[in-house]
Amino acid sequence: MSVVIRPEHDLSGANTLGLPCVAERFVAPGSVAALREVLAGARAHGWPLTLLGGGSNLILPARLSGLVVQPALTRWWLEPAGEGVRVHAEAGVDWHRLVMALAGHGLWGTENLALIPGHCGAAPIQNIGAYGVELGEVLEAVHLLHLDDGRETVLSAGECDFAYRDSVFKRELNGRVVITRLVLRLSRTPRPRLDYGDLARRVAGCPTPLAVAEAVCAVRREKLPDPATLGNAGSFFQNPRVAADVAERLLHDHPRMPHFPQPDGRVKLAAGWLIDQCGLKGWRDGHFGVHDRQALVLVHLGGGCAAELLAFAGRVAERVEARFGVTLEREPRLAG
Ligand code: EPU
Repeated sequence: MSVVIRPEHDLSGANTLGLPCVAERFVAPGSVAALREVLAGARAHGWPLTLLGGGSNLILPARLSGLVVQPALTRWWLEPAGEGVRVHAEAGVDWHRLVMALAGHGLWGTENLALIPGHCGAAPIQNIGAYGVELGEVLEAVHLLHLDDGRETVLSAGECDFAYRDSVFKRELNGRVVITRLVLRLSRTPRPRLDYGDLARRVAGCPTPLAVAEAVCAVRREKLPDPATLGNAGSFFQNPRVAADVAERLLHDHPRMPHFPQPDGRVKLAAGWLIDQCGLKGWRDGHFGVHDRQALVLVHLGGGCAAELLAFAGRVAERVEARFGVTLEREPRLAG
């Protein structure tokens, strides 16, 4: 194989939670051809595979057996498409850097998704979303490599079956494909999305994609911890969606509870608010804590491990369940 497989590779710096982890083998193929070669080699050896992107939505165990593959496909380019452009971004491109570059080009569509950590290849898996916009709204297609036979296919956005923090990649295609490239469709026509919080005030005057992206960065920096200084994986739980009668009952007791009716009749609740109401904001236990400015984010204070984090998260979820009867589901994926 022409790519270098590193034995006993330390991944502590490769996950934003900063959890200690050693990969039995690690490889970062720099082209689709090299990636295909690596996958064929792993199949031939019977090595279990773990795919790694930016490690920002992942809980790593102390040891990962088999082969950890982090695609180092880092090219992106623009293609004219009607009044807008098509953006091709390979899986290893840093999402936030891409967003800022596109905003700098005056292109509308991804600016509300600024400062989301991670690589492009992971973005469709959980259909990243923030400040009123989800990836699925600007995504045109996803290029894939199939793990079983190395064939390449392209899925349209419709076939990705996007929903809130969900896609076909978490379900039917889970563990069966590697995402190699995203194709986004952006616009040159102004279409600011400023409904969330005080975004509109922050970009008062003449909004540009760059002004919106910078305002989003400012909001995020106020609430969310920087993984470079405090380990975290963003929101640790999904916002729960409950039946309308459950929401009604909760609203009767808590009239100020944030709630968002969904097209399917269910009602989305704010997990951060539920955790906050349990008095857990800023709570620390052992090596983990609930962030003191956004209760939906769990932070690693250093020295902890995955099992401890899961136990800590379980205690948070239990408190919410006991007080509100609402079950919280974890957002970051468990590797290995
Ligand atoms: N809230 C509290 N206390 C808290 C946190 C939130 O009362 O400690 C309340 C807020 O006041 C607000 C509501 O809960 O009324 C919602 O909070 P916020 O607007 O901060 O958003 P969120 O629902 O907690 C979601 C995403 C974030 C995304 C923001 C902004 C999920 C799981 N999380 O958080 O995504 O940045 O909306 O759009 O959907 C991520 O996925 O990692 C992430 C950060």
